[in-house]
Amino acid sequence: MTETDKLATRLVELGRKPAWTHGVVNPPVYHASTCVFETLDSFEQAKLNPDGGLFYGRRGTPTVWALEDAINQLEAGAAGTRVTPSGVSAIAVALLSQLKAGDHLLVMDSAYEPTRTLCNGLLAKMGITTEYYDPLIGADITRLFKANTRVVMVESPGSLTFEVQDVPGIAKAAQRHGATVIMDNTWATPLYFQALAHGVDISVMSLTKYVIGHSDALLGGVTANAATWPEVNRTFHQLGQCGGPDDVFLALRGLRTLSLRLNRHNASAVEIAHWLQGQSQVLRVLHPALPSCPGHAHWQRDFTGSSGLFSIVLQPGTRHQLAAMVDGFRHFKMGFSWGGFESLALPANPKNMRSTIPWEESGQLLRLHIGLEDVEDLKADLTAGLKRYCES
Ligand SMILES: Cc1ncc(COP(=O)(O)O)c(C=O)c1O
Repeated sequence: MTETDKLATRLVELGRKPAWTHGVVNPPVYHASTCVFETLDSFEQAKLNPDGGLFYGRRGTPTVWALEDAINQLEAGAAGTRVTPSGVSAIAVALLSQLKAGDHLLVMDSAYEPTRTLCNGLLAKMGITTEYYDPLIGADITRLFKANTRVVMVESPGSLTFEVQDVPGIAKAAQRHGATVIMDNTWATPLYFQALAHGVDISVMSLTKYVIGHSDALLGGVTANAATWPEVNRTFHQLGQCGGPDDVFLALRGLRTLSLRLNRHNASAVEIAHWLQGQSQVLRVLHPALPSCPGHAHWQRDFTGSSGLFSIVLQPGTRHQLAAMVDGFRHFKMGFSWGGFESLALPANPKNMRSTIPWEESGQLLRLHIGLEDVEDLKADLTAGLKRYCES
């Protein structure tokens, strides 16, 4: 495989070094804590713990290295990738690697809620101050920088509300200030948004979502550029992070079909989002590929796809109406997380998750994940649900 191979080819071949696969297609699943050494020489050599050398299970095995190598090669400009037990732990490793007591951190107001909880909890306890900014601030973020601003976090589009950020504009401002940019790139994955190539220093992904893709395991990935990699790697090891071998195997399996699945999620979601715009019970459709989405021009400029997750805002109604709608769905089940093969609907209230830009919509927000079912079946399910909503 070479850098010029097309994505579909690369997804099939990534991480399959003969030294890890030993002649079979998939790397064996190493269940390892202890590694044993036959000679004093090999024991002493292992203690140096070079990358790619067995030392102790937590420090990696060929199964883990195969996934890390594969994810790393998806991001142009990456110096290294570590796999963590969840997306949230990946965000924690990235932030903790760059911050220390007394530092100032800028985080978008549309952050994934556990990111906010981490900033307001553990990071605050460590003496790190978080300031939440308007996700659509763009290059104007310059005015928020203080002498002690070390990190700017971006998540594009925003969780639940889908504002698409001007990542290159924010990154340029951060670079001028000497601050590191960390991005939660779970929604687009490197297939639809090349984070490092757009000025991000550390790109984080919840592999739980599209990479694993089957709602049966949790993992996270942290991919860093050359400037930030040494500290990311050190922090990862110091925190004792590691993914379980069976989950890593599931991520490697998911990776092979990522492009196929993502393209299908993308196409079905775009079709359903356009269709929902014409439904009278729907006030707004918040989908980055639609011109009505805040920051749509940034999506058009920077992204090559839009995955399967977006939100709608319903006409104002009662809890009873909402219950009639969601309780009766045949295909859209309520559930946290997303990125699996199944469609999901999540009623949410962004009001309680904002501190800078209030969420003023009067109607109920419903986040939809469009799965791999037939798009006509999904539309029929939504049609019946919207009918129950207005007739209850
Ligand atoms: C945008 C985003 N980032 C990170 C995560 C966290 O991932 P995990 O569930 O693997 O911890 C989620 C999970 O819903 C998410 O939506």
